[in-house]
Amino acid sequence: MKSLTVAAIQTHPEFGHLEQNVEVALGFIPDGCDLAVLPELFNTGYQFKNRGEAFGMAEDLTGDQEPGPSTRRLIRAAAESGTTIVAGLAEKDGDRLFNSSVLFRPDGTWEIYRKVHLFMDEKAIFTPGDLGFPVFEACGTTIGMMICFDWIFPEAARSLSLAGAEIICHPSNLLLPWCQAAMVTRCQENMVFAVTSNRVGSENRTGTELTFSGRSQVVSPLGERLAGLDKDETGVAATTVELVEKDKLFTPGNDLWKDRRPGSYRL
Ligand code: ACM
Repeated sequence: MKSLTVAAIQTHPEFGHLEQNVEVALGFIPDGCDLAVLPELFNTGYQFKNRGEAFGMAEDLTGDQEPGPSTRRLIRAAAESGTTIVAGLAEKDGDRLFNSSVLFRPDGTWEIYRKVHLFMDEKAIFTPGDLGFPVFEACGTTIGMMICFDWIFPEAARSLSLAGAEIICHPSNLLLPWCQAAMVTRCQENMVFAVTSNRVGSENRTGTELTFSGRSQVVSPLGERLAGLDKDETGVAATTVELVEKDKLFTPGNDLWKDRRPGSYRL
């Protein structure tokens, strides 16, 4: 049996104050933590006025250039702390802009997920993710990433789970109130852990006020809320999770994978 300390970090970023937002978020990561998840777009804030503004704050994660300042800081933080850090960043790749989640390993390597299901005004800013739902080996387990509104498409968590994810990291800037409860079901129906890291506070940079719903949480494969925060506070919800076995026995007589009947589904 493998034990991992995992942490959902909940912040209140100030739009455009990238360095400050990064330092505040990193300051919440507990000593000895194996896996820490930060919110979506945690360094920039959420409500960009237009694509150009987002482009100016985005970082290149795959090109030949030196990584941007937030990326460099996250690489250093993972190396110094020994923590695998998952963080939401605006990513530029040539002319394209993605709402991405990046997994930083302590050894200096990183992996990318690009948000597939864009929410409302994000569609005017970002390109839908083009990498599917990959999984990665990190901190002794298999990690999948999805971002915020991906929660409403059960295919996202299902794809990650079928690919072998044991923990789903879920950086978020949640606006709708239903995700936290829905993630309990996502965990049960896939028998995975999920770490949803949300932000708090409001932004109104376009004439539309957005209020973020907090309530970050770590949920077990049986749907237990192992650790959580409330809707207004900033901080960390940390817990130790036991990665017991790879099987999907929901009851002694029901293996979730063996009992699936794909031939009966109309997808
Ligand atoms: C969202 O997907 N940030 C609501």
